[in-house]
Amino acid sequence: MHALIVTAHPEPQSLTHSIAAQIGEGLAGAGHTFEIADLATEGFDPRFTPGDLAVHRDKAARPADVAAEQARIDRADALVLVYPVYWWSMPGLMKGWIDRVFSNQWAFDFTLQDGGMVKKLQHLKVHLVQLAGADAGLYERHGYANAMKVQIDHGIFDFCGATVVSSELLFESEGQAPAVFLERAGKLGMALFGTK
Ligand SMILES: Cc1cc2nc3c(=O)[nH]c(=O)nc-3n(C[C@H](O)[C@H](O)[C@H](O)COP(=O)(O)O)c2cc1C
Repeated sequence: MHALIVTAHPEPQSLTHSIAAQIGEGLAGAGHTFEIADLATEGFDPRFTPGDLAVHRDKAARPADVAAEQARIDRADALVLVYPVYWWSMPGLMKGWIDRVFSNQWAFDFTLQDGGMVKKLQHLKVHLVQLAGADAGLYERHGYANAMKVQIDHGIFDFCGATVVSSELLFESEGQAPAVFLERAGKLGMALFGTK
């Protein structure tokens, strides 16, 4: 089995990147393959352009960079997103990746004559690993954890028919030893598809 691990963080030496790498190690240890899509280093452009809007309106073909991202998701049996929480959501770079890549005709199709919608990512399994500086109590008291689940797990992935298999907030990411999170990440990678 093959996983695409996507990260959005400006520093390659960050905990976010280390966790992504550790998930990869776990996958490899269990006999699977993986690719890391480091959106920051690769310079993915998250700005939604008139060309993207034309795709949304079914009036133009996909731009090459979007087609390349869709191809690497198509190659994967599972998609793992690893990102820091910014303002109780995903970083703008990751959100722009979703905006542009999860496009009409590929992620869903709402151009049907009868006004219905087809969810086109029913085969895709998704795992979300979200680093959170704040603690669990703050997320619960303000409803941030639930808000993120509704917007991201349900609003993006369920909307396209993908299955969110796991969705974790790694609380107090700055206040604990990285080893705690790296161990969890390795286990997640190992268990993602089970042992070959
Ligand atoms: C712009 C910005 C916004 C942030 N917003 C939140 C937030 O809303 N909730 C939260 O729990 N942590 C927030 N954080 C903290 C980061 O999610 C946390 O520090 C995370 O561990 C950063 O990833 P890193 O450890 O890989 O650098 C924010 C950090 C930055 C830089």
